[in-house]
Amino acid sequence: MHVIETQNLYKEYTQKFSKQKVNALNDFTFNVEQGEIFGLLGPNGAGKTTLIKILLAITFPTNGSAKLFGTDVKNHKAKAKVGYLPENHKFPSYLTGEQVLSYYGELSGMKGGSEMNKRIDEMLGLMNLAKWRKTKIKKYSKGMMQKLGLAQSMLSDPDLIFLDEPTDGVDPIGRKEIRDILAQIKSRGKTIFLNSHLLSEVEMICDRVAILNKGDLIKEGNVEDLTKTENVFAIHTVESLSLEIKQKILLIDKNAGIGEKEINTETGLANLNKIIDILRSSNISIQSVNQKTSTLEELFINVIKKDNTN
Ligand SMILES: Nc1ncnc2c1ncn2[C@@H]1O[C@H](COP(=O)(O)OP(=O)(O)OP(=O)(O)O)[C@@H](O)[C@H]1O
Ligand SMILES: [Mg+2]
Repeated sequence: MHVIETQNLYKEYTQKFSKQKVNALNDFTFNVEQGEIFGLLGPNGAGKTTLIKILLAITFPTNGSAKLFGTDVKNHKAKAKVGYLPENHKFPSYLTGEQVLSYYGELSGMKGGSEMNKRIDEMLGLMNLAKWRKTKIKKYSKGMMQKLGLAQSMLSDPDLIFLDEPTDGVDPIGRKEIRDILAQIKSRGKTIFLNSHLLSEVEMICDRVAILNKGDLIKEGNVEDLTKTENVFAIHTVESLSLEIKQKILLIDKNAGIGEKEINTETGLANLNKIIDILRSSNISIQSVNQKTSTLEELFINVIKKDNTN
């Protein structure tokens, strides 16, 4: 069973006054599996929030269907084990940190009392907010508010958590803390679905990503596979390369980039192996062979550019 599953989702909005139609999602089909950290990426207006809202039945698809834990999202029971950190959340500012958590805890169906208090203690401790529990949240900084929002989303120990820009406004140390907390939740078999424009962050946290552009799913896959640049390899050697060896290598790949102890080739696996054969037969020891990677940001910019010119 998939934790999240959508089938041919379409969402068309009609603008209130102009009556202009916007396709916020086009034929969107995807799955998220248990224990994954899944990132949804896309430029402003791509349809990311629309998808989260459909999955949480805050808005409804024009066509198609969506399920959480095998239950159609139209059935409110689908949300029993779900946590949610909305983008730009606004908690009532006259409440203290612990009051916010107990209020939202009760809204999510938790019973008040000692068990919930224990859980609130745990969450405030995890987020380094224990000292601030009795302080009104209007005195909280942006990063503290974000961590409180995260605590709120995890309070009922949900099996699936939706996070809309979880590290928005959080400083680098806080972001690292949040990444560690997410990794810890994942190690307990929980599933995390997040939305973020911070691609370096997404690259560090997510197992898999999907890229949306103007409502279309244009790329999906494992972060490691997507950022691998096929056919581009770097070889590092222990010994320096003689002129003769360099010339032999250039016969295989005339555009190879050759340094004192380094060879860069972009002509694929077969040529990589031929170059290695030359090195080994010349008694050159190989220190390392690496397939070059691009950053998720480079990939993102490339695929969006390509899609926009199609
Ligand atoms: N309630 C609505 N009524 C009409 N159009 C809407 C509504 N909500 C969203 N849209 C339109 O649907 C499209 C997708 O919007 P959505 O909020 O899902 O984008 P997003 O990917 O979350 O963008 P961002 O990164 O800016 O948060 C946009 O063109 C937006 O203007
Ligand atoms: Mg959005």
